[in-house]
Parts: sequence; structure tokens; C-alpha cells
Amino acid sequence: MRIAVFGSTGAVGRLVVRAALAEGHEVVAHARSPQKLGVHHPALRVIGSSLTDDVDVARAVAGADAVISALGPSPLQRGTPIGEGTERIVAAMRHAGVDRLVAIATPTAPDPADGRDLRMAAIVRTVRIVAPGPRRDVLRTADAVRSSGLRWTLARLPMLRGGDARPVRTGPVGESGLLLTRAALAAYLLDAATSDRDVHAAPVVSDAG
Ligand SMILES: NC(=O)c1ccc[n+]([C@@H]2O[C@H](COP(=O)([O-])OP(=O)(O)OC[C@H]3O[C@@H](n4cnc5c(N)ncnc54)[C@H](OP(=O)(O)O)[C@@H]3O)[C@@H](O)[C@H]2O)c1
Repeated sequence: MRIAVFGSTGAVGRLVVRAALAEGHEVVAHARSPQKLGVHHPALRVIGSSLTDDVDVARAVAGADAVISALGPSPLQRGTPIGEGTERIVAAMRHAGVDRLVAIATPTAPDPADGRDLRMAAIVRTVRIVAPGPRRDVLRTADAVRSSGLRWTLARLPMLRGGDARPVRTGPVGESGLLLTRAALAAYLLDAATSDRDVHAAPVVSDAG
């Protein structure tokens, strides 16, 4: 398959790119700082550009079988660049007839299926206080994905950590863990993008044990 990856230079995005290439997929990596990618492979095409550039977002998406967005807000950013970029990605996908989108968010973006989890609720409350800007961006991103009309999956992330991939569990708040290994997340995102796993769902993805 041909997979377009946005946020390809992040800790998660780089793992997604490597995992996709290792599985034999063609990868188109969109990156604002392509020099950070550090991957060279005959099946990899890199588009170094801004998320605000409609033409390059469209180039990245054209001909893809699926799109993975590992984009996430940074603490000091202004505005909602990830949400706006996601809206551009969605528009480009709809224009190009590409219908599978797998993106990341956090439990800050609620889901109707969510139950009660006091520890997760405390984290969400803290984010609301200490990172209102990134929170707004996550909410805008989640809205863009949910209203896309595409076959979307929104992987909501707890605390990320390093280490080897391990099995994950997926489910609403109340049935999830608080930690997720980045390599396991990359494997989940790739699996979802290349299958019908969790279509039209926004599970919290966490390490199984
Ligand atoms: N750390 C945690 O425990 C945790 C928990 C839950 C959720 N998250 C979220 O998960 C996301 C992914 O994790 P990560 O460790 O891979 O983060 P990361 O290394 O910061 O990667 C974020 C990616 O988004 C890109 N990006 C950010 N702002 C952008 C903009 N305005 N235009 C274009 N690209 C932009 C970055 O590009 P550059 O490489 O050019 O900066 C990078 O590729 C994080 O951003 C965070 O929001 C983190």
C-alpha cells in the first residue's frame, strides 16, 4: 500500500515511517523539518513543506491508500495549527478520493463511550489548566477527523513512553491504561491504516499490561 504520513519527524511519526517501510509499504512523508527524519529508503518519498501549503498537502495525499497523522501540538505554539492542518488534510483526501485516515488525539477530546476514570479525569483537568492552547488544538483536530466523512480512526493517547513494542488494548476512558509505548502506538496506527480496525471510533490506546 502507499501510506502518507504527516508529523513524520516526531518521535511517533519516525517509528510509523520505519514500521511502514519494514512492512514493505510505499511511504510519502510530509514534514516541515525534513532533515529531522533521518530515514533513507527507495520506497520513501519526502515532501518538505508547511502544513499551511494546500498544494503540498495535496501532493502528499495524492495516490495514497491511507493517511496517518502523527501530528501533535507543541506546548509553546500559538493558535491551532494541527487542527487547521488536519482540516487541510481532510479536504485534500476528499478531493483525491482517499478515504482512510488514522490520526492521534488525547482523552482531552471526549468520546460518548467514555466512562469514569479518576486518574484520567485528573490528567484531563490538569491539561485544561496548564495547556489550554494545545488542548484547543486537540479539540479542533478531533472535530476535523470526526466530521471528515472519511473512514477515520482517532487514537487517543495516554502518557507516551519509550521501549519495545508490546500488545495494546483499546477502549473508552474507564477501560484503558495510563501508559503507551511509542513503538506499540506506531504498530497500532499502521495496523489500523491498513485494515478496518476501529473505523469511526476514538479508542484510548494503551499498553495491555
Ligand atoms: N508525551 C506524551 O506523553 C503525550 C501524551 C499524549 C499525547 N501526546 C501527543 O502526541 C503527539 C505525538 O507524540 P510525539 O512524541 O511523536 O511528539 P513530537 O515528537 O513532538 O512530534 C510531533 C510532530 O508534529 C509535528 N508538528 C507539530 N507542530 C507542527 C506544525 N505547526 N506544523 C507542522 N508539523 C508540526 C512535529 O514536527 P517537527 O518535528 O518539525 O517539530 C512532529 O513531527 C505529541 O505532539 C503530543 O501532542 C504526547
